[in-house]
Amino acid sequence: MTTPGSTEQLKIVIVGHVDHGKSTFVGRLFHDTGSLPEGKLEQLQAISERRGVPFEWANLMDALQSERDQNITIDTAQIWFQTKKRQYVIIDAPGHKEFLKNMVTGAANAEAALLLIDAHEGIQENSRRHGYLLNLLGIRQIAVLVNKMDLVDYSEARFRQIATEYTAWLKSIDVEAKVFVPIAAKLGDNIATRSPKMPWWDGPTVLETLDAFKVAESPKDQPLRFPVQDVYRFDQRRILAGRVESGSIKVGDRLIFAPGNKSSVVKSIERWNAPATDSAHAGESVGVTLTEQIFVERGSIAALESSPPYELTRFNARIFWMGKQPFRKGRSYKLKLATQEAECSIEAIEKVIDASTLATVSRHQNEIFVGRHEVAELTLKFKKPVAFDTIGEIVPTGRFVIVDGFDVCGGGIIVPGNYPKRTADGTHRSDNLYWSHGKLTVAQRARRNGHPGCVIWLTGLSGAGKSTIATELERELFNMGRQAFVLDGDNIRHGLCSDLAFSPLDRRENIRRVGEVAKLFAEAGLIAITAFISPYREDRHSVREMVSDDQFIEVFVNAPIEVCEKRDPKGLYAKARANEIQDFTGISAPYEPPAKPEIELRTGECSIAESVGRILEYLHLQDVETEISI
Ligand code: ADX
Repeated sequence: MTTPGSTEQLKIVIVGHVDHGKSTFVGRLFHDTGSLPEGKLEQLQAISERRGVPFEWANLMDALQSERDQNITIDTAQIWFQTKKRQYVIIDAPGHKEFLKNMVTGAANAEAALLLIDAHEGIQENSRRHGYLLNLLGIRQIAVLVNKMDLVDYSEARFRQIATEYTAWLKSIDVEAKVFVPIAAKLGDNIATRSPKMPWWDGPTVLETLDAFKVAESPKDQPLRFPVQDVYRFDQRRILAGRVESGSIKVGDRLIFAPGNKSSVVKSIERWNAPATDSAHAGESVGVTLTEQIFVERGSIAALESSPPYELTRFNARIFWMGKQPFRKGRSYKLKLATQEAECSIEAIEKVIDASTLATVSRHQNEIFVGRHEVAELTLKFKKPVAFDTIGEIVPTGRFVIVDGFDVCGGGIIVPGNYPKRTADGTHRSDNLYWSHGKLTVAQRARRNGHPGCVIWLTGLSGAGKSTIATELERELFNMGRQAFVLDGDNIRHGLCSDLAFSPLDRRENIRRVGEVAKLFAEAGLIAITAFISPYREDRHSVREMVSDDQFIEVFVNAPIEVCEKRDPKGLYAKARANEIQDFTGISAPYEPPAKPEIELRTGECSIAESVGRILEYLHLQDVETEISI
């Protein structure tokens, strides 16, 4: 059945509207590539003849399929054929539901797709859905086969019309087909050989198209991911046991363990019932010891410092839900990713699709859930950072399952998003960094500006008046000829900190980043005014230490929670009370007031102008002092 040749394999999926000739096409493909079992075609032709019915290519496939199904143990039916270049596995499943489930949960993984459209019938609603389906699954190598060209007299105009129309649709969902090929599957036109009936076609045949697709990179060539399964103690030694999911690991490699970013060097690589070796590769289960004993637990993912996974509290995903109970916003679930387990919940749902019909499900605004056998595009969020990759980067750490109670209720893949790669704890990553000294002094800048730089750090509840005071103060200072600039919580979270949420760790990171930026502003000689809730004393203290005490003016914008809630300028308190916002400061998350702020403003009692006046007063004193010292 096969010809000896390359062992390279490409997994493809063939999608098309039921009547658009899928089985016929696959039957023909097998025949034309010489991939049919000896005598099979003749046998089926004889049966048809005996029954007095015409032979159909589709019957051939059905016969093959049912034979293979009997030998298949997993629920993914895989059938294969061979060209001169390589083997092809057709990933198929009866119905969209199973196919989607297999693809989304990772049981199946097609790398390329052929999409069939009937030239005579033209583009149907289902053809559009199929395009969307491929997009949903992240399949990027797509060829569209315009089938049944014999029924439209091999018309080039008809072919071009379909190609133009369908290209426009694909573009609207951000998909691009590599090529459109006009074919007549039943007659073998442009399948293995060029059709004499379409002399106008100078593009590739189906086989040429298939052979031009690229095989996915082997996991061995990808960055290292070594999820820790268990930590064993033998004598004084600790052995981290796990499977190398991608890449390679060597003695002497410096590893970082995500999440958390602890780091150590590989001392030895041990194997069960086999001598230790210097390296291990994707697919191998090994035990790793480290030169420095660091605290690592099951669930940590080891990577090389040069290519760590993302480590964030949210990601975008596509999931397939199988649970009897729907997947609901506002509840928390357990997510398992490699050996990692984390508590997750839905942040937002972008789109829900019925897996059987591929139709978009529309729901009332208040009903945010994914039902059984539905597929959704959504954003998941976590209380603590999780380590992950996108499915396009590394498969084993780019997919996950969701557990509700004791059952696996959903599976999903992580899709690209705006994910910065960085550590959450702010430790610097390299020992090979040096400080580059400038040629200007603080005093020179202060003389030019007429005042020194500093940080005016406003802290307080949402709605306490931080932003209002900050912008008023900025204007006043500007009018007085001072260089001032406001860094505002909501604004900074649109950009610099758009990857952060409101967990304690995220807030710490938010304040750390803003602290660093404010420090740079102050060094540049500006008055940086910051308006952040900054609820944790320790985080504010870290900024004070970073900036230097005498340049850091902590302003406690103090309004009682009742006042803030009554003002509720953004309607967020109402939402937090209705449980629509989690971890909301003052309601479901803490605020630690400053113990000894430089300034305290009771905004429930004094006006904005008075508050701004108090800060200006304070600055004036500062100004006089600095003028003396410069
Ligand atoms: S901080 O805690 O990390 O300092 P930051 O000042 O950046 O918070 O952002 C607070 C702003 O984010 C609030 O003014 C509000 O508009 C918005 N916000 C959204 N969700 C929350 C939440 N859960 N808690 C507090 N503020 C929130």
